[in-house]
Amino acid sequence: MPGQRVVVGLVGAKFAASFHARNYRRVYGVDLRVKGVTAKTEESAESFAKQHGLEVAYPTFEAMLADPEITLIDLCVPNHLHRPMAIQAANVGKHVACEKPLTGVFTDRPSDEPGARTMLDQAVAGTDEVLAAIGRNGVRLLYAENWVYAPSVQKANHLLAQADGTIMRILAEESHSGSHSPYSKEWRYAGGGSLFHKGCHPLSGALFLKAQEGLRRRGTSIRPANVLAAVSNLTRIESFLAESERWVQLGWKDCEDWGTMVVTFDDGSVAQITAADVSLGGVQNWMTVYSSKAVIQCNISPNTGMMTYAPAGHLFPSPDIREKVETTAGWQYTNPDEDWMNGFPNELQDFCEAVAHGREPQSGAWLARDVVVVSYGAYLSAIAGRRVDLTPWM
Ligand SMILES: NC(=O)c1ccc[n+]([C@@H]2O[C@H](COP(=O)([O-])OP(=O)(O)OC[C@H]3O[C@@H](n4cnc5c(N)ncnc54)[C@H](O)[C@@H]3O)[C@@H](O)[C@H]2O)c1
Repeated sequence: MPGQRVVVGLVGAKFAASFHARNYRRVYGVDLRVKGVTAKTEESAESFAKQHGLEVAYPTFEAMLADPEITLIDLCVPNHLHRPMAIQAANVGKHVACEKPLTGVFTDRPSDEPGARTMLDQAVAGTDEVLAAIGRNGVRLLYAENWVYAPSVQKANHLLAQADGTIMRILAEESHSGSHSPYSKEWRYAGGGSLFHKGCHPLSGALFLKAQEGLRRRGTSIRPANVLAAVSNLTRIESFLAESERWVQLGWKDCEDWGTMVVTFDDGSVAQITAADVSLGGVQNWMTVYSSKAVIQCNISPNTGMMTYAPAGHLFPSPDIREKVETTAGWQYTNPDEDWMNGFPNELQDFCEAVAHGREPQSGAWLARDVVVVSYGAYLSAIAGRRVDLTPWM
């Protein structure tokens, strides 16, 4: 049963918009039409529409909102635009898919504990504004957290359910050698550094698995209770700056390029989450789950699904090998279908089905909100130098 027709308008025309456009083409069993795109400039929307075979390049976001055929607005724009655009879209009755993180605080980096506490309050208030607009208008929020949909994370959830143990510890990381987007290097656009825009992925994987465990075993989600964190700018190490050859990216204005947090859940279990923009070797996306009855290792990337060798880098263009590898020469952990391993096709399938059949997606409002609370709680912890109790914001 295809359900209600889903007509998508993509907002943004670069990195995230490209993998969304590619993976909508893999959605099946839903009456889906990806109608058009809008971007910061009309030229970029037009060239994206041409490249992906979309019917309309809207000159503005408002023009897209005014199209009565569009039922789902898919936000693939920088983080600081998520909240206002999501509210605008919900207010005209459109469902909203939003890239991660849902929102944050887009000013300068906080410099002291009162500033970080205010930022946590504001981030949660901003999130709740979006969720209120979604609820008020009877539309759905589809939170584009692909780790929830990564086949290895879905399978981990299935196997953990079969073994029926307690997840005691989760260790997870997302890192690479530096974001491609200049927006990610300034707090006023990104709302945080590596711990926020990369750490949100492994954090979400852990939040999802613990929530599912709670629903299975006690009938309610197991939620985060407190967080302890540290952040740093490792690209400011003097000996590194003095080196003549560099593969790790520079240019971080006021965002950290490394961070780690220990999240303790309300059942006493822990998740150790790390994120960095200083790690060579291509994107590192992995999670190890230590449960009382099983150990599960999710190697989203790299993994040994396919190995390739080339004697010189120019023989294989990088994106065809694996995201963000600095060289394609030598033996490589080549990903045969990186979009699938990342969970993008499953994510858009679930989103389209959720809209078509009027149900909640697996990655929705609860996860988007918990990520904001834990991440800004982590920044408060890093600045205050102690563990932060999250319960007032949960
Ligand atoms: N899930 C993932 O793995 C993943 C990966 C990368 C990025 N993201 C997320 O996707 C979002 C976009 O990141 P990106 O890497 O594609 O950034 P990008 O810089 O590559 O692209 C940003 C796009 O937003 C458009 N834009 C900017 N201002 C606009 C406006 N006012 N109106 C309409 N369009 C506007 C630009 O034209 C551009 O096309 C971010 O929230 C990021 O966190 C998610």
